[in-house]
Amino acid sequence: MAKILEETSKTFGEFLLVPGLTTKDCQVEAVNLKTPLVKFRSGEEASLTLNIPFTSAIMQSVSDHNLAIALARCGGLSFIYASQPIDRQAEMVRKVKKFKAGFVVSDSNLSPDQTIEDVLALKKKTGHTTIAVTIDGSSGGQLLGLLTSRDYRPDKISAQTKVREVMTPRAKLVCGEEGIDLAKANDLIWEHKLNTLPIVNKEDKLICLVFRKDYEAHQEYRQELIDQEKRLMVGAGVNTHDYKERIPVLIEAGADILCLDSSDGYSDWQKEALKYAKENYPNVKIGAGNVVDGEGFKFLADAGADFVKVGIGGGSICITREQKGIGRGQASAVIDVAKARDEHFNQTGIYVPICSDGGVVQDYHVALALAMGADWVMLGRYFARFDESPTAKIKINGNFVKEYWGEGSERARNWQRYICGNGTKLSFAEGVDVYVPYAGKLKDNLDLALAKIRATMVSCGAITIKNFKKQAKIVEISQASIRENGAHDVIIKESKTSD
Ligand code: IMP
Repeated sequence: MAKILEETSKTFGEFLLVPGLTTKDCQVEAVNLKTPLVKFRSGEEASLTLNIPFTSAIMQSVSDHNLAIALARCGGLSFIYASQPIDRQAEMVRKVKKFKAGFVVSDSNLSPDQTIEDVLALKKKTGHTTIAVTIDGSSGGQLLGLLTSRDYRPDKISAQTKVREVMTPRAKLVCGEEGIDLAKANDLIWEHKLNTLPIVNKEDKLICLVFRKDYEAHQEYRQELIDQEKRLMVGAGVNTHDYKERIPVLIEAGADILCLDSSDGYSDWQKEALKYAKENYPNVKIGAGNVVDGEGFKFLADAGADFVKVGIGGGSICITREQKGIGRGQASAVIDVAKARDEHFNQTGIYVPICSDGGVVQDYHVALALAMGADWVMLGRYFARFDESPTAKIKINGNFVKEYWGEGSERARNWQRYICGNGTKLSFAEGVDVYVPYAGKLKDNLDLALAKIRATMVSCGAITIKNFKKQAKIVEISQASIRENGAHDVIIKESKTSD
């Protein structure tokens, strides 16, 4: 007969935090959300940390280079999805590593012999009004001029006028030299009263543009997650099939950390892949998962995982539990794995961080996951809603939505994540293809979520995640008290906003 666990599988919504003493020094401004990303020995510091406990899911509809840049700028980390050709994934990693805040590769470029008609068409396509004029109309060609909407009046000018007749020519442009830092670029912008500063190399080829408005925005990003060379950090997903080919290419592209990503990570295939990675690339950090109990955690920790990802079946787009009947409530899984992680630490002196992956619906669920022992969370639905996610924004019934689909859905065709280690494909989907409500910019939403988490921690008397874990008191709630959680027994007013 099967072993029956004496536990009811529970999720975040079934728990609350009970406040602890808030001392005078315990203020939201003092909260430090830094958390270890990879394993470390007792008494030492982790070699990689996150500035905020947020990572984005290894999914086609979530983590491309744009989202990775936006999240790293806020202090978190994306794992670029592996369900794509190796070169494409590596290219996305490269784009994040090459990103320099405030330095933008020009996406609107024309040659001098093109016309105002081309200018208007390009403006419509990119939505940008500053056009670089290069010898061949490419973003890296020799710079011949700059054209902005102040240089022509569309209603007064012939559509056939050549760009060269209206542009500001190179001789009159102030440019920065390749290698200039952002502060110096900004000095030039102010000295010469510019809106745009082209950056060129020694051959006068265009490298990128610096915009006045971007410099101002840059001042808001004080938590950026950067490597020793001040480049943004980025992770990448790998699978248990082509890892021998994928890992070297991702490392070469500059990935800071890798993660073996499988719906069920408690397998010999993950152990083998970890062994290969550790033997061949001893300096590479690589996590593994997903598991939902202490046994699975111990297996992956002993196999050398630098962190372990927790969660099966809790994802918003996940139908694994319905299809295969496997999984565990996300809260129960995190609590059990955290217990095993702490036991492992006491026995070995090695602390292996755990990531709570999927199932976060409310911002406070992140605080609960941390209190239950997770070191950081991984979110899919949450990030899919933002401007920076790779999917289309569509208007349905007057409301904007974004597309979101599971890695195990027909659409993702990422059967690799959902095939057995020996290559046998599963014949059914484990994920769905859906819409999520559009929510605007990543930073605006994340700032709000972080403000809530800091406030929760302060209520519990903690200003570091480590202390929060130690001090938090968690209580299970009854069905009746769940009703009490939101506004109740009142008449909610209609929202007055017109849109
Ligand atoms: P969410 O934040 O609740 O949307 O969950 C995201 C997590 O769901 C991911 O990080 C994966 O662990 C998991 N996931 C992604 N795609 C699928 C799928 O197709 N089926 C089941 N789980 C998935």
